[in-house]
Amino acid sequence: MNIHKEYARIYGHSPTWQVCAPGRVNLLGEHVDYNDGVVLPAAIDRAVHLAVAPAADGVVQLHALDLGEQVAFRLDALERRLDLEGKPLPGWAAYPAGVAWALIEAGLMVGGMQAVYTSDVPIGAGLSSSAAVEVAFAAAWRALGGWQLDNLSLARICQRGEHAYVGVHSGLMDQFTSACGVEGHALCFDTRSLEWRPLALPPGTGIVVADSGVRRTLAGSAYNDRRAACEQAVVLLQQYKPGLRSLRDISTVEFAAYSEYLPDEIRRRAEHVVKEIHRVQQAVNALRGEDARLFGGLMFAGHKSLRDLYQVSIPELDVLVEVARGLPGIYGARLTGAGFGGCTVNLIEAAQAEVFIEGLIDGYRQHTGKDARVYLCRASAGVTAFPYTI
Ligand code: GLA
Repeated sequence: MNIHKEYARIYGHSPTWQVCAPGRVNLLGEHVDYNDGVVLPAAIDRAVHLAVAPAADGVVQLHALDLGEQVAFRLDALERRLDLEGKPLPGWAAYPAGVAWALIEAGLMVGGMQAVYTSDVPIGAGLSSSAAVEVAFAAAWRALGGWQLDNLSLARICQRGEHAYVGVHSGLMDQFTSACGVEGHALCFDTRSLEWRPLALPPGTGIVVADSGVRRTLAGSAYNDRRAACEQAVVLLQQYKPGLRSLRDISTVEFAAYSEYLPDEIRRRAEHVVKEIHRVQQAVNALRGEDARLFGGLMFAGHKSLRDLYQVSIPELDVLVEVARGLPGIYGARLTGAGFGGCTVNLIEAAQAEVFIEGLIDGYRQHTGKDARVYLCRASAGVTAFPYTI
């Protein structure tokens, strides 16, 4: 789709900026970003593409090309969540509207805009399609407003919008990755200190994403419940370890000593988080040592923990992981993102990509009767904005 042409067809003039914000996969460190842990995501070559121009009247007009839907709302009436005609904003518009709301709250200049956008990040597949929309719009308002703000800070404002406006208490990983991705690299992101650095994947490896086709919605899901369970675990564990601020602060050994005092469900949730944080440390060492096999083993262990302890997997994702385990070229596989549906991520030997992908599609069909979309991904750069020159 030529987004410039679509923009001109809809609005009758040219856009002034084009913005591109990628989705992401998370290689390891799942459900740890709201527990102060370290995550290892990578931006992927699937993205939201947005074309915009400023509008003078404080009105935001959006055309979501993939949905074939449009909406217009006033920036001075964001709190009411109504469109220009007084109808409730559609769900998909809450993401850009939430970003505008959060940017204004942060004291940044946000003006009216006319926008069209399209995305090849599948929606509800655990590849952060909504964070990519948020980051794209935040970068568009930054470009239109002419103000300066680094990408990490921009990501934090998007997260604020998601918490306060959309109502999902997500961590920072998705917005961060879409904003700060580095071509050819995973990102080692410490969600407590907010320090990060790109890390190269082991030589000769590739990332394959396998989409189960099962969709989830984050807002209506058990995501917020999982987060609440972690917070309860912290409160309970503070009796034994005063000064504990988050599950990041407890080692696997300490956890083994205190976990029996936790109610069963909370213990399981917390055990996943504490051990996953530990796995990420080992995984970072594996990357430094270019040890794909060790890294892959940690991915398999991460999946088991998400399935049995955190209980966010579904049978289709378990099938994808089990089939992948028996295929040539596999190092590791696990569900990626929040879970409850969506995709697995696979670290494979790049030379075996074709055979691996075919085998995974076949195996998934045999076990479930369903078709999976399976593709090789490139670790990609974060958000970019280009002015159109006429
Ligand atoms: C979603 C959230 C992230 C993170 C993952 C689970 O993608 O948006 O912040 O918590 O789930 O790791």
